[in-house]
Amino acid sequence: MRILLIGKNGQLGWELQRTCMTLGEVIAVDYPQVDISQINALRDLIQTVKPHILLNPAAYTNVDKAENEVDLARVVNGVAPGVMAEEMKKLGGALIHYSTDYVFAGDKGIAYFETDTANPINEYGISKLEGEQAVLGVVDGISLIFRTSWVYSLRIGGFVNKVLGWARQQEVMRIVDDQTGSPTWARMLAEATAQVIARGGNDSLAYLQQHSGLYHLAGAGAASRYEWACEVIERDPNKEEQVVRQILPAKSQEFPNPAHRPVYSALDCSKFEKTFGIPLPDWKISIRLLMG
Ligand SMILES: NC(=O)c1ccc[n+]([C@@H]2O[C@H](COP(=O)([O-])OP(=O)(O)OC[C@H]3O[C@@H](n4cnc5c(N)ncnc54)[C@H](OP(=O)(O)O)[C@@H]3O)[C@@H](O)[C@H]2O)c1
Repeated sequence: MRILLIGKNGQLGWELQRTCMTLGEVIAVDYPQVDISQINALRDLIQTVKPHILLNPAAYTNVDKAENEVDLARVVNGVAPGVMAEEMKKLGGALIHYSTDYVFAGDKGIAYFETDTANPINEYGISKLEGEQAVLGVVDGISLIFRTSWVYSLRIGGFVNKVLGWARQQEVMRIVDDQTGSPTWARMLAEATAQVIARGGNDSLAYLQQHSGLYHLAGAGAASRYEWACEVIERDPNKEEQVVRQILPAKSQEFPNPAHRPVYSALDCSKFEKTFGIPLPDWKISIRLLMG
């Protein structure tokens, strides 16, 4: 099996490259070698590599910058995934694409199901929803969309690294407690993806075709950013480096950002768990495993 992975240097892409190497040949690329906003070049790449499976963790993920770079965010997140689905359909192969909890407005108050109406409140969310629609609009293609939430790794950027950095610089930390989501370890997400592909054995494509569609796939449970930060600080293996004495809950309006964030965007992943028979660990278990 030949897998084309676009976005190998991102949090999820880095884990996917490692997790999927036991499934077959993985051809992994990233920006600037490949720029998925260049649609013709993207089509050429896919038709040259001729993958059986295309994994797309690549995305325009800077939520605040997207407010001002709307056109670029819309091409990368909204148009390119549909092009990937079209090209994979021509090849008879499968696309596995990732989307976000930020397609939801965040006003439901409990975890979102796949059947809930998406109604994004920022440009990033709008662009990602357009990407979902473009992929699902390719009729009779083999496409799985995994909507995930609050992705983290220790390797690059992200909230967990920020929290660990702040804990080494600030005696009193203030973290918002009015945003709730489902923290998701990039490695867990990559492993769940690889398991789905492997479920089909020698006929992965038939299996993926049978299970085409949209799934929520995230760490189980829900946490506010405040709860998430407290758990990270508690599990930090190098606690002696911390200077933080107090972690105080704060409100989002104290830290104004260009993009609005959903108040509550945790995802109910029971459809994924039941369909694929893969239990998803509680978000706290993943934090413990990450921290060692
Ligand atoms: N991070 C989260 O909290 C979160 C939450 C929910 C859903 N998601 C979704 O999960 C998926 C993976 O997220 P992630 O956190 O792993 O993202 P990430 O770390 O930001 O990685 C995204 C990758 O895409 C690449 N990329 C950006 N623009 C590109 C372009 N025009 N052409 C080719 N590659 C390009 C980036 O390259 P550069 O770094 O060089 O730009 C980067 O390697 C994405 O679909 C994202 O929308 C993420």
